Amino acid sequence: MNRSELESIARAMVAKGKGILAADESSGTIKKRFDGIQLESSESSRQTYREMLFTTAGAGNHISGVILYDETLRQSTKSGTRFADFLKQNGMIPGIKVDTGAKALPGFPGETITEGLDGLRERLAEYHKLGARFAKWRAVIDIGSGIPTQYCLDANAHALARYAALCQEANIVPIVEPEVLMDGAHTIERCEEVTDAALQAVFKELYAHRIYLEGMILKPNMVISGKKAPTRANAQQVAEATVRCLKRNVPSAVPGIAFLSGGQSSEEATEHLSLMNKLGPLPWALTFSYGRALQDASLKAWGGKPDAFAAGQKAFAKRAKLNGLAATGGYSASMEKEAV
Ligand code: 13P
Repeated sequence: MNRSELESIARAMVAKGKGILAADESSGTIKKRFDGIQLESSESSRQTYREMLFTTAGAGNHISGVILYDETLRQSTKSGTRFADFLKQNGMIPGIKVDTGAKALPGFPGETITEGLDGLRERLAEYHKLGARFAKWRAVIDIGSGIPTQYCLDANAHALARYAALCQEANIVPIVEPEVLMDGAHTIERCEEVTDAALQAVFKELYAHRIYLEGMILKPNMVISGKKAPTRANAQQVAEATVRCLKRNVPSAVPGIAFLSGGQSSEEATEHLSLMNKLGPLPWALTFSYGRALQDASLKAWGGKPDAFAAGQKAFAKRAKLNGLAATGGYSASMEKEAV
């Protein structure tokens, strides 16, 4: 493990005014996204879509790194440059999703455990050769009646820490992602309680596994009401609860926290991030690692049509820029109407 290399990659991932594009949808997830625009998911349509995002002019001004899926890390631009090389040449660090998905946790109805540890050391060595300098592993915690159980939190935290240790051994920065879902009807208070418990379980295991905290990034959910809650907390309440929860649970040695968007609208995700940064000074960089909140508008504007390639890029450039501003607390909702 090269500590200074890990730390400098982690710091670059959360550089001022920049965040991460999560474009690591598995084949199943990207099919769902393409279904939404009636586009068939094939190796070629996936390549075209990812090329549209990555080659957006100026993307590297706001995007520090891109999380790729195995297939994408092995693909190239139409003109023959490997995506990993293209990103690097344009100031974006290539990363790779390495978990193999959340599977039913036996004996615990409604709960999941994320798999992918077997053979991970060898896969990481190959990914490093292919250019990946950071990785992602997502644990999924659902809120419902009687769940999550402490066992589910502990089992997922253990897997996250095992993954993080293997990444650091391979000089790859681990993004540690314990996602508390916002799918239910729960209150923001319940989300805060579960996020507290999830982060406590995660850091307990990270310490036990001797993780170099300066060489990792945390990717948590925001503390937010469930999507189906009868009344939902407002943006300021989300920002305050999230920062309070993170201050309680995340050591200041961790260089950065990069949120998932988790089903928030694009505008909500940007506004929440900006409000949190306005609550500073904070002990860590607070930025984005959004999938849907960076891509939805672009996917829709493109619609799979070759003549809408530029429209898709324009929509992506706008979200990248506004989220870059939000990462320094400089966003305001009125900017949504301005041309980028
Ligand atoms: P969303 O921002 O769409 O939640 O995706 C981020 C991600 O990488 C989830 O693992």
